[in-house]
Amino acid sequence: MKVVLTGGAGFIGSNLAHHWAARHPEDTVLVVDALTYAGRRESLADLNHRPGFSFLKGDITDPHVWDEALPGTDLVLHLAAETHNDRAIADPLVFVRTNVLGTAQLLEGCRRHDVPRLHHVSTDEVFGSLALDSPDRFDENSPYRPRGPYSASKASADHLVRAWSETYGLAYTLSNCGNNFGPFQHPEKFIPLAITRALRGGRIPLYGDGKNVRDWIYVIDHCEAVDLIAHRGQVGSTYLVSAENELSNLEVLRRLLALLGTDWKIVEHVTDRPGHDRRYALDPGRLKAELGWQPRFTFDEGLEATVEWYRAHETWWSPLLAPS
Ligand SMILES: NC(=O)c1ccc[n+]([C@@H]2O[C@H](COP(=O)([O-])OP(=O)(O)OC[C@H]3O[C@@H](n4cnc5c(N)ncnc54)[C@H](O)[C@@H]3O)[C@@H](O)[C@H]2O)c1
Repeated sequence: MKVVLTGGAGFIGSNLAHHWAARHPEDTVLVVDALTYAGRRESLADLNHRPGFSFLKGDITDPHVWDEALPGTDLVLHLAAETHNDRAIADPLVFVRTNVLGTAQLLEGCRRHDVPRLHHVSTDEVFGSLALDSPDRFDENSPYRPRGPYSASKASADHLVRAWSETYGLAYTLSNCGNNFGPFQHPEKFIPLAITRALRGGRIPLYGDGKNVRDWIYVIDHCEAVDLIAHRGQVGSTYLVSAENELSNLEVLRRLLALLGTDWKIVEHVTDRPGHDRRYALDPGRLKAELGWQPRFTFDEGLEATVEWYRAHETWWSPLLAPS
């Protein structure tokens, strides 16, 4: 089977490329990635010489990229996106360009080249924000209520995928997942930022009161869910991916500081992000019942593995640190 993986040099994409090489060694995998600030060839270094693995540097908004990449493709895994909320607030049109236009160009490419199946990776942020004190969780039928440029651009991409299915018969599956953490995540994101700052003796910024709740998942569990859905998910269906680890940023930091052997003195409260969603929570019932998916890692196991990875891979992350 020929698999095209967009965004494979990014955080989740590079973990998925490693997962796929281990689980499906008979497949050929072509990574398509523009290598923005978030994409790194180094994250795929040990796959470079693997038979069946190849890399195409290309922008997903460029139709020629799809005419080169897609002929003969059996499955597209679409992850390429702009993903950092702070950057979306500062420069929203980059997000519209890549996440909306880029997804539309990919869908048109799939149409031109008769791609038989696409899996689109999306986020829980498309559903908006839940109250901290409510027991509600999002499910596959929750209405879309994105509240920021990143989530609105991802919501638009989700709508385009469904529209190409209704209008042109594209066979797709779609997944919405919560906050991932693990190896190869850019140190601009909360958990690797905290780890790398602590390892370097710097201060860890905490937005607002720190009570915002996220639904955390170790990236390997997300990769296994994507693999299952792309192979066995019902065409035209959406699955929510959650390891049901609802934790506030304060609680995540508390556990991280304990693992890192440091204390609250290095935490610095900073002004909250505008429009910062309060709580996300997902019900993964359908994914578990239909496809038998279960997370393999507890939050603490994943966090410990992540801290160990960053301790052991300073050469990977140190070039990415913002100048202080
Ligand atoms: N990280 C999370 O917690 C999370 C949660 C749910 C869903 N998602 C979704 O998963 C996907 C991957 O997220 P991530 O955290 O790995 O992102 P990331 O920012 O680490 O990686 C994104 C990758 O896309 C590439 N890219 C960006 N613009 C491109 C363009 N125009 N053309 C080609 N490539 C381009 C980058 O070079 C990078 O390799 C995204 O679609 C994101 O919305 C992420």
